[in-house]
Amino acid sequence: MFDNQYPKVNYIGNKEKLADWICDYFPKDTKSIFDAFCGGSSIGYEAKKRGLRVISNDVLKINYFLAKSIIENKGETLDENDIKLIFSGKPSKGFMYKNYGEVFFFNDECMELDQYRKNIEKLSSEYKKTIAFTLIRRSMIRKMPYSRFNLNWDKIKQLRDEEYSYEKYKRKRAYHNKTFKNHFLQNLDAYNNAVFDNTQENVAYNDDVFNLLDSVKADIIYLDPPYTGTMNNYHGFYSLVDEYIASKKVEPFENNFREKKSALELFDKLFSKLSNYKYWFLSYNNNSYPSKEDLIEIISRYSKNIQVIEKPHNYQITGKDKKGTNTEYLFIIKNENYKAS
Ligand SMILES: C[S@@+](CC[C@H](N)C(=O)[O-])C[C@H]1O[C@@H](n2cnc3c(N)ncnc32)[C@H](O)[C@@H]1O
Repeated sequence: MFDNQYPKVNYIGNKEKLADWICDYFPKDTKSIFDAFCGGSSIGYEAKKRGLRVISNDVLKINYFLAKSIIENKGETLDENDIKLIFSGKPSKGFMYKNYGEVFFFNDECMELDQYRKNIEKLSSEYKKTIAFTLIRRSMIRKMPYSRFNLNWDKIKQLRDEEYSYEKYKRKRAYHNKTFKNHFLQNLDAYNNAVFDNTQENVAYNDDVFNLLDSVKADIIYLDPPYTGTMNNYHGFYSLVDEYIASKKVEPFENNFREKKSALELFDKLFSKLSNYKYWFLSYNNNSYPSKEDLIEIISRYSKNIQVIEKPHNYQITGKDKKGTNTEYLFIIKNENYKAS
């Protein structure tokens, strides 16, 4: 067991507070895990600390970069010279200024982001670049009310008005108005210290999960898909950061578990393709669709050895009226048809 600390990521639907609970159920013979919808990588990180080989994947580029930084990466970090390089030069008018000035950030803030974007490209290795992007992500999230990029500009301006925020919510939320650089530097040590070598060849992918199920092998596949019927528009929440990385607009991804009408079919398709894995772990909850009973019915088409563990759990964004009503499920399935290859 390694004692490195998972950094502050703040990912919607993250399992940070459930990571011990989930990983404690991993069977003793587990040596590797495929964290197929890795998001903020909280489960992959806990599994890495426990000495397992971790394969991570997420369809969003920024989540892949985070997994590359703290799961795949064994030891590269950002040093003083890298920091000087990232913050060198002057703000400039690039992709963010042209497309997102006074959409998500003020014009001068977008110009700073454009300046840092150009500089990150000059860093000497891929891992340094991915850590830099994850720290810029963290800074963008800290400056963004509700930590997601699908609010309109009037609302953003209102919530970034410290007097208004204090009047209305008794909190100034001054951190929204601190600079990107300030947030970046504040989180730098935590992200650098999160990098470690657990002596395994861990790897990160950036793909639709359905493209990997035939080729990626592991003892456990951990499935934490967007919970259908809840606030789960991950493209809407975070694709701005992917656009920042690519310096171009990014189309929404498919197989996104957003539509109730296709959810049953998508789950069926998913479970029909898991023959490479001895154990299937699925996170879900009682406020999502399909229900526990429907999921058991779908899963039992492919294996009958199903256990469901339950735990009361509130997500940070759970509304006041829903507090205390959420039960988190952990489906643990032993694949009866598994044949070791
Ligand atoms: C509930 S979140 C995962 C949270 C994560 N376990 C954590 O602790 O932060 C679901 C993730 O699935 C990703 N996702 C959605 N559809 C996908 C697909 N078809 N293939 C790969 N990833 C997908 C989303 O981008 C999102 O990051």
